[in-house]
Amino acid sequence: MSDLKQEINRRRTFAIISHPDAGKTTLTEKFLLYGGAINLAGSVKGKATARHAVSDWMEIEKERGISVTSSVLQFEYGGYCINILDTPGHQDFSEDTYRTLMAADSAVMVIDGSKGVEAQTRKLFKVCVMRRIPIFTFINKMDRDANDTFDLLDEIEKELGIATCPKNWPIGSGKGFKGIYDRDKRCVVIYSDTEKGTKEGEATRIPIEEKQRVEEAIGSEAAEKLLEEIELLDGASAEFDLDEVRGGNLTPVFFGSALTNFGVEIFLRHFLQMTTTPLPRTADCGVVDPVERDFSAFVFKIQANMNKAHRDRVAFMRICSGKFEASMEVKHVQGGRIMRLSQPQQIMASERKILEEAYAGDIIGVFDPGVFSIGDTICSPKETFFYEGIPTFAPEHFARVRQMDTMKRKQFVKGITQIAQEGAIQIFQEYNTGMEEIIVGVVGVLQFDVLRYRLENEYNVDIRLEPLPYEHIRWIANWEDLDMDRMTGTSDMKKVKDMKGNPLLLFVNEWSVGMTVDRNPGLVLTEFSRN
Ligand code: G4P
Repeated sequence: MSDLKQEINRRRTFAIISHPDAGKTTLTEKFLLYGGAINLAGSVKGKATARHAVSDWMEIEKERGISVTSSVLQFEYGGYCINILDTPGHQDFSEDTYRTLMAADSAVMVIDGSKGVEAQTRKLFKVCVMRRIPIFTFINKMDRDANDTFDLLDEIEKELGIATCPKNWPIGSGKGFKGIYDRDKRCVVIYSDTEKGTKEGEATRIPIEEKQRVEEAIGSEAAEKLLEEIELLDGASAEFDLDEVRGGNLTPVFFGSALTNFGVEIFLRHFLQMTTTPLPRTADCGVVDPVERDFSAFVFKIQANMNKAHRDRVAFMRICSGKFEASMEVKHVQGGRIMRLSQPQQIMASERKILEEAYAGDIIGVFDPGVFSIGDTICSPKETFFYEGIPTFAPEHFARVRQMDTMKRKQFVKGITQIAQEGAIQIFQEYNTGMEEIIVGVVGVLQFDVLRYRLENEYNVDIRLEPLPYEHIRWIANWEDLDMDRMTGTSDMKKVKDMKGNPLLLFVNEWSVGMTVDRNPGLVLTEFSRN
């Protein structure tokens, strides 16, 4: 196998999705620990920064010049080169969180065993489904009292619409947590609390056939319950089928406790075997093979520098094919220019490392003098093709925005348009009027603060934001075939248009969305906009 092929094939690029507090950070720490990337778990990101208040967030952004939320972690484990993409939560939740998923080949879904499927997981899951990427489930915090295991699986199937296949099975939870049953190896793995940053020890494994030993280890009551559950499970759960997993129709489920470091390495090992090598990507020239084609990448995120003194930005690219070398010339297809990527870097949790080379599957951040846009294609100078664009995701918070000083209209429009072009916010206008009324839509409310801060600091414009009650936005897939003026909706519905003039509808609740579809035969509404 050529070196290039070997390098690409050993890469695994995935995102971790979860609701805040489910244990994503803790799990990531443990992964890094196994990879030897850190010596002691607990240093991925300071808890203080993970839970910062809005004002602190601004300070952090300013100090570092780059978002703390943009971490991409790379580490080695068992011959694999692993790229983990963080999907920020809490107040940091934004459209970037969704876009990050466009760069991943699979997703690890972390669920808190006592909470089940939560709101943010649901949202991120939808994007994974849209991309049909494999999803692996880790049900965490089994050392705490968890919901009934069958109920948890049921919830995932019903709420998320994906079949589940438990690869292991928890034996009790909370104080009664005794370990897991490994269904492939048909043995019981006894729980041991190896907290404090040590690697997962050699856990005791007992074959399920050795009834007496199993009973001694977990107690006869738990053993009896386990046998019953295994029987039920073998009869009821979906058959394991790797093709179904790879197609995003079946999620393998694992149980464990990230904090006490139990079940994590088992999960990591299985996951790495099951997940894919860097996936081919669709472009206008057809499907681009990661190994066969020369270097190519697409921009999935642009991070504006919050530091007023440096107006630079960092463009994050996912390499889709070939090898990247720092000195090479590349073509920025949308800009029609041959260029060298400036200061290519890998962004590790809190530090940046200048890169000499990178391969398909890797993520690089490059200095952007303002030429890149989200979705742009970068490829070898002798080629010209366009990767499929990144969809625009539905904002969930809306506000009417006005500048305080009417004399500053020009700066205001320029600033807000530029910030929208970077993809930090979306702007809309009243359907029948011009730019006088601007409506801003954001995925996470923190983006309102970012907008205010940036307009003040970079464009010297103070604004007033007036929150609007809308929570749902729908693009109209077939608006060209409809008479927009005659369309009837509910009384709370608002017609707006985006920067390109496409009409959209805003709704206060989901019910109104359904009513509007019912009242307008033929109307097709979508939650994403394919650019
Ligand atoms: P997140 O990134 O998904 O937001 O979650 P994070 O890892 O920060 O974990 C959230 C809280 O849950 C933390 O507690 C963490 O220690 C705890 N936790 C994570 N995994 C487990 C687990 O397997 N079992 C138990 N019992 N707890 C777990 P915290 O008190 O909020 O923070 P800290 O003071 O422990 O740092």
